[in-house]
Amino acid sequence: MKKILIINGPNLNLLGRREPDVYGNTSFEAYLDQIRADFPLYEITSYQSNIEGELINKIHEAGFSSDGIVLNAGAYTHTSIALHDAIRAVTTPVIEVHISNVYTREAFRHHSCIAAACRGVIAGFGLASYRLALEAFK
Ligand code: DQA
Repeated sequence: MKKILIINGPNLNLLGRREPDVYGNTSFEAYLDQIRADFPLYEITSYQSNIEGELINKIHEAGFSSDGIVLNAGAYTHTSIALHDAIRAVTTPVIEVHISNVYTREAFRHHSCIAAACRGVIAGFGLASYRLALEAFK
């Protein structure tokens, strides 16, 4: 079993209720049930925090023992050098994901502080962005 951790950053606890025109109507818990059923060979765990330091602690905790981390850092994507450093500090490959296509949105979403530290980036496919990242870990 591959151990994959999905980390969601700020405001992503509101998925399903938050700006549904941008992020959809499905809660992350409901989506997690679907992907766990679709990837029976993965042990998928998930973690969400609105706090930058807690996201960093989680990357440290999982980043030497998991087979992959799927990270939607939310708005910290665009601001956090500390998250960049945390991703670089660990050995587990990290894939950056975004539900929305950040490049079609406000200019402040066009820059990622973490992309250069990540194995790859997937954006714009709705919740399926997470599924595509799981495929990439195959
Ligand atoms: C997001 C895009 C970010 O710009 C935004 O701050 C989010 C969600 C996405 O999944 O599309 O919180 O990461």
